[in-house]
Amino acid sequence: EIYRASTTAPVNIAVVKYWGKRDAKLNLPTNSSLSVTLSQADLRTLTTATCSSTYTGEDTLTLNGSPSDISGARTQACLRELRSLRAALEEKDPSLPKLSKMPLRLVSENNFPTAAGLASSAAGFAALVRAIANLYELPNSPTELSIIARQGSGSACRSLFGGYVAWRHGSQEDGLDSKAVEIAPASHWPEMRALILVVSAAKKGVSSTSGMQQTVATSDLFKGRVATVVPAHMDAMEKAIAARDFAGFAEVTMKDSNSFHSCCSDTYPPIYYMNDVSRAAVRAVEAINAAAGKTIAAYTFDAGPNAVIYFLEENSNLIIGTFYKLLQGVDGWKEEAKASSSSIQLEEAVSSIIQGGVSRIIMTSVGEGPVKTEQH
Ligand code: DP6
Repeated sequence: EIYRASTTAPVNIAVVKYWGKRDAKLNLPTNSSLSVTLSQADLRTLTTATCSSTYTGEDTLTLNGSPSDISGARTQACLRELRSLRAALEEKDPSLPKLSKMPLRLVSENNFPTAAGLASSAAGFAALVRAIANLYELPNSPTELSIIARQGSGSACRSLFGGYVAWRHGSQEDGLDSKAVEIAPASHWPEMRALILVVSAAKKGVSSTSGMQQTVATSDLFKGRVATVVPAHMDAMEKAIAARDFAGFAEVTMKDSNSFHSCCSDTYPPIYYMNDVSRAAVRAVEAINAAAGKTIAAYTFDAGPNAVIYFLEENSNLIIGTFYKLLQGVDGWKEEAKASSSSIQLEEAVSSIIQGGVSRIIMTSVGEGPVKTEQH
């Protein structure tokens, strides 16, 4: 008999950034963070976990059709914890099949190009943990599973939920209070949209895992970020989301991205994730907000040059129209984008930098958490 479970898991983009570990082994962060889960119609990982007493050898993982290394300490930590939860169930109820003793076959696929530099580790580890938890029929809540996913990749703990999600840094040494919680479901503020400008980078930058360790070790600015900046941002962001206050949400989002990238450039030697195209996107958002006479768009950048621009559905026309004028030929525009128009003029230099550097557009919105697609 082959036991099987499939699930999808979403990508999330932080508006208050996780950057810094206080314990690299357990993957415990220096600060809390908060993200928006993005729609799985556009970005998701689909993972199928199977096990059988007829399988022999080690566990295996296939990623986008190719065999992938499963021996890494982070993946192993996730597998070990999930197996031991299953083993405890089997011990309590001896009639259960001994799935914990069988090799696992994991098959994982993204519906977006991994090369786009989008946080695929978040969706990847969330889907891996959710799929195995389903296969093992674990009763654990998404928050409990987030403690396991966190050990795969920090940002992955937030992808076990849809909507608006906080990762509480916690203070225990064992990390059992460092977990994700849903701040509000997608239905609380479903009008949130995101436009992702995928920027072609010449070479791959410093990985987030290594970059954040260098920042913790060398940046003085970072001390203030952890002590006062992030706590204030978390507080203001939770209030803005509760009140559906876009201007408040946007200000914190942009300031937190700026604070994070300032700490990166204060790292010694400095780390630069944003490039000229990223900075042109910042100018474009500023121009849009100036023309609107209020804050209707917010930029944020992760550990790479891609720009994520958050806005509300009611302003789609203005924001999508502004970029559509410049980027009509670029891959990823949907049919409905053609209808949007905007009279906003970007500075010539800003327009040409964006035109020269954006290789793909992703139009998406806030979305739901993991979805079980198969189980037997
Ligand atoms: C800039 O979750 O990729 O995207 O825990 O080492 O796997 P590891 O790091 P990762 O870092 C994400 C950093 C970020 C900010 C964020 O998502 O909060």
